[in-house]
Amino acid sequence: MSWQHTTSIYQIYPRSFYDSNGDGIGDLQGIIQKLDYIQQLGFETIWISPFYKSPQDDFGYDIADYYTISPEYGTLQDAEMLIHEVHKRDMKIVFDMVMNHTSNQHHWFLESKKNKTNPKADWYIWRDQPNNWKSIVGPKAWHYCEERKQYYFASFLPFQPDLNYRCPEVKNAMFDVCRFWLSKGVDGFRLDIFNCILKDKDFKNNPFSLWHAIPSEDYPGGNFQIRKYSLNLPENFMLAKELRQVVDEFPDRLLLGEVFGKHELKKKYLGENNDGLHLIFLFDIVMFTFTANFFRKKILEFEQQYPSPYMPTVVFSNHDQLRSIKRIGNKLEKAKLLALLQFTMRAVPTVYNGEEIGMMDGNIAIKDGKDPVAKVYSWVPQFIADRLPVGINRDNCRTPMQWNNTEKNAGFSTADTTWLPVNTTTENRNVAQQQADKNSLLHIFKKLILLRKKWRALHRGDIEIIYTGNKNILAYTRTLEEEKLLVMMNFSNSKISNKINQPIKEIVFSINNITTFDGVLLPYDGVILKI
Ligand code: GLC
Repeated sequence: MSWQHTTSIYQIYPRSFYDSNGDGIGDLQGIIQKLDYIQQLGFETIWISPFYKSPQDDFGYDIADYYTISPEYGTLQDAEMLIHEVHKRDMKIVFDMVMNHTSNQHHWFLESKKNKTNPKADWYIWRDQPNNWKSIVGPKAWHYCEERKQYYFASFLPFQPDLNYRCPEVKNAMFDVCRFWLSKGVDGFRLDIFNCILKDKDFKNNPFSLWHAIPSEDYPGGNFQIRKYSLNLPENFMLAKELRQVVDEFPDRLLLGEVFGKHELKKKYLGENNDGLHLIFLFDIVMFTFTANFFRKKILEFEQQYPSPYMPTVVFSNHDQLRSIKRIGNKLEKAKLLALLQFTMRAVPTVYNGEEIGMMDGNIAIKDGKDPVAKVYSWVPQFIADRLPVGINRDNCRTPMQWNNTEKNAGFSTADTTWLPVNTTTENRNVAQQQADKNSLLHIFKKLILLRKKWRALHRGDIEIIYTGNKNILAYTRTLEEEKLLVMMNFSNSKISNKINQPIKEIVFSINNITTFDGVLLPYDGVILKI
């Protein structure tokens, strides 16, 4: 099995990770200084959110030049050094590639918007009259440009015009961007909103639906329409394959897609013969309820939809969502159980920086949000925003990484003000304290990553759900040839006795460090047993 299907990924939000030059903003040299930390945790791959040149209207997801680095993050030499330093530590590095749109400051757009005849006139999606397509975050997707006297289309926010992939030059230009970074040694790309990338060539209106007011994983965007003609088009699946061919010009690289939609559509990005993207994010698990039942169903669903040779992914947090710890009442004991699940399921795990210490969300009010999505929703009363299952001020999951509680700004930066305020919850939720405590969440992650690498059944074996008769217990086996492990987790706050019908050869792992196992699981305890 290839590394793309067995790896474990650590996501870095560069602006908030580590500030090496005291300007209050994280940077590439900062990441380099913390690579030993990530290596010691055991992660095999690092994915870094965008740090290319950008006006930072969406903090890097609005790229103004794919070939240069935004000065607050560093230089091209820093990026090269970062790639080199990651490889030196025997890890892989994945860049974020925002192909769907550019910043409205990109010179391609500046040229395209001038008139209908310039050489880049077709590089974006222009129309005399809008159709009914809505943006996936706000009400409007078509924006009038006075200069060109036409509307342009933006899947996300108005300053992020969508590129037109029906124009061959656009495709070639973007493939060349990919080749540029691949030839610098980058091990692959996480593809931003790849499900938006091509749109219906005839601009047919999307069907209206009263039942699709609110966005969901199956029907992204909400806004009373099913995005039949603007999301997950068959042409997108073709583009995934073309991109795969570009990436395959270089040995052993990875494509990981950010896509939303029903499984039956999403899985088409993977191709039929391992000829599409290697992996796609399965975000439906992000909205978990903390029960054995929920996860049992998800595992069965993933197995049905993504059987071998496909590989599912498991992600609970990222820079767009509320941090997963919020869904479990900020409880570290529950986070340990989630970590056990994440590193023993049949899936590639992605952990978002800070998740390993149970970092909590910030407390930044909507009206103070720097996040452009918060600005769209600034009219939402705060008490409603606080109760929504999704974060509409993404600043709160992007606060600076908490390295310790002895230095200024939790050790993130020496600046007087940081780009977002450091959380006040640094006590116990910082790297230094958890490194010193052998029972901390951080140590649980570390042990699990190590075990996932050591036991082949955990990163490449089959999975089979075991029914114990108690609905609060999630149990499954991971098997590869002679190697068989049983994972058992108690999702309840009471002690549960289980009957194990097979002889236990070894206790491979236990959250509570038990040394003998008689079938009793303490509240929120979990074990890995060799059977
Ligand atoms: C993706 C990114 C998000 C960004 C958006 C537009 O969802 O994860 O941060 O704002 O795309 O690029």
